[in-house]
Amino acid sequence: MVLAWGILIPLGVLIARYFKITPRQVWPEELDNKFWWRWHRRLQYVGTFIAVCALVIVIQYARQATAIAHIHGLLGWATMLLAATQIASGVLRGTKGGPTGELAAEGSYRGDHYDMTRRRIVFEYVHKFGGVLALLIAASAIVIGLFVADAPRWMLIIILLWWCLLGVAAGALQMSGRCIDTYQAIWGPDPLHPGNKIKVIGIGVRRVSAKDNPHH
Ligand code: HEM
Ligand code: HEM
Repeated sequence: MVLAWGILIPLGVLIARYFKITPRQVWPEELDNKFWWRWHRRLQYVGTFIAVCALVIVIQYARQATAIAHIHGLLGWATMLLAATQIASGVLRGTKGGPTGELAAEGSYRGDHYDMTRRRIVFEYVHKFGGVLALLIAASAIVIGLFVADAPRWMLIIILLWWCLLGVAAGALQMSGRCIDTYQAIWGPDPLHPGNKIKVIGIGVRRVSAKDNPHH
């Protein structure tokens, strides 16, 4: 659970949030960098698989004999339910569209993401807020789990130090403006693209206007 929810899944979220455009990429000349997309799915699928294996093991031993074990169990189940929601929403997010999308060969840019259809908008709200909620609940489950298992203190200290490191990295990436709107990372800032006209979804997500962009 620590490997899945303490390391792999948080890293996958960090990559999805801050590596839509990679450091050496010349954006917007180079659009739609798949780096974040590949690593987000790899890390989240592998992490969730490991978490399910851990769950299968732990349900055979859980007694929920103490109040703290019971609370841990509730937080743990909530975390796993959110993981299922994240994967389901990801799989059901709809089509892409745009100049390289499914219908591009037929001259149509139609697609749930390109057109920012209701389906895509619902996906983005559910997936972004659900994902952060999952991380927060998982973090509390880990801390409480260490007490339930009466784990040595150094484990708690190492995990807390690791989270400080992740927090500092996220803060630095956020302040350097790396949290770019997915839509713009894929299709650029041109207001001709329909999604650039609607409100950006998420907290602290940066969108560049075509005139502020030095390369444009
Ligand atoms: C986000 C991470 C975690 C999740 C999702 C999670 C999930 C769960 C769940 C769902 C249960 C209850 C199983 C049931 O009701 O049959 C459980 C029990 C348990 N977990 Fe975790 N867990 C996590 C982290 C940890 C950690 C870090 C530890 C300790 C190192 C730990 C130790 C335990 C123990 C000892 C039990 C059995 C408690 C009892 O006897 O009732 N868990 N966990
Ligand atoms: C445990 C599993 C998962 C978690 C916890 C998770 C979490 C997240 C979070 C928190 C974000 C938003 C990052 C941000 O910009 O602040 C995100 C973005 C995204 N995730 Fe996941 N994710 C998971 C699995 C998946 C899967 C399986 C898919 C696809 C099949 C997927 C597709 C996406 C997409 C397309 C985005 C970008 C959304 C956008 O910015 O428009 N995720 N994920």
